[in-house]
Amino acid sequence: MAGRPLVVVTRDIPQVGLDILAPVCDLRVWPQEMPPTPDELAGLLNGAEAALTLLDDRIDGDVLDAHPELRIVSNFAVGYDNINVADATARGVAVCNTPGVLTETTAEFAFALLMATARRVGEAQQYIRDGKWHTWGPKVLLGQNVTGATLGIVGFGRIGQAMAKMASGFDMKVLVPDTTSNVDEARAMGATLVPMDTLLAESDFVSLHVALNDDTYQLFGAAEFEKMKPSAILVNAARGRVVDTDALVTALETGQILAAGLDVSDPEPLPADHPLANMVNCTIAPHIASATVQTRDAMASIAATNIVRFLQGESPSFIVNPEVLDNR
Ligand code: GLV
Repeated sequence: MAGRPLVVVTRDIPQVGLDILAPVCDLRVWPQEMPPTPDELAGLLNGAEAALTLLDDRIDGDVLDAHPELRIVSNFAVGYDNINVADATARGVAVCNTPGVLTETTAEFAFALLMATARRVGEAQQYIRDGKWHTWGPKVLLGQNVTGATLGIVGFGRIGQAMAKMASGFDMKVLVPDTTSNVDEARAMGATLVPMDTLLAESDFVSLHVALNDDTYQLFGAAEFEKMKPSAILVNAARGRVVDTDALVTALETGQILAAGLDVSDPEPLPADHPLANMVNCTIAPHIASATVQTRDAMASIAATNIVRFLQGESPSFIVNPEVLDNR
């Protein structure tokens, strides 16, 4: 590597990532908890050859045109809907992500939301805090069975498959849309391939694991909630914008579906007075499905290693648009 390239890191990531970058490049780390505004990001990126970004840093053609020296954007996430990959590819900029290491961690949290929502864990805690626990009640805080229930998994990639594996421990029947590109994996895991309408009509739980793109934006809205059972629970640990928020609020308010367990929302962050943050039948978390010490360390390590390998002329292990490597 000729000289030391400047690498921008847009938030204070786990130290292991910085330790990988520091020996081979000059680092400029955004020190604040809040993300840089677009103007601040533009200033931060000046002169940088690489950027280690977070999922709320918007990188598009305008940002790349303003920073022609930028050659790689390495996202600290498996999702990369914050980056316009077509714009990056057209400009020969590599886009990297951190798949694999967060698969089980994210599925664990989706499953935790499924269980917590089915068994009303949040409400139970609030019930005690509100001083309502006076006796053992035969009809108090009745939830829904998980064992033996039917789970529809929409998005049968790595995380969806990990969810199916966990569901098998609870003898759940797993339904997967027959439009999935992972038919063999679904069959191998004993899932049943069905039309989407059948999945909606028969599932006790529907868990979303699709990437956000033009095809999946508001994939779930009023029409989908109408087809679900009134006893059904929606779980979303994918992206908030996969669901039409207003339609979800209506479905929860009117009892069209029973409840929701959400790690993600639209908007993010969700204001504290938003209906979804205050409905008893909505369990909600601030986008933390991959947030374990071990997994965030692994993500930092991969995001940093992607950059180091690229800058040293090697192929990053996880690149979204490998075609850019042919022309460098
Ligand atoms: C988190 O949402 C991720 O995409 O890694």
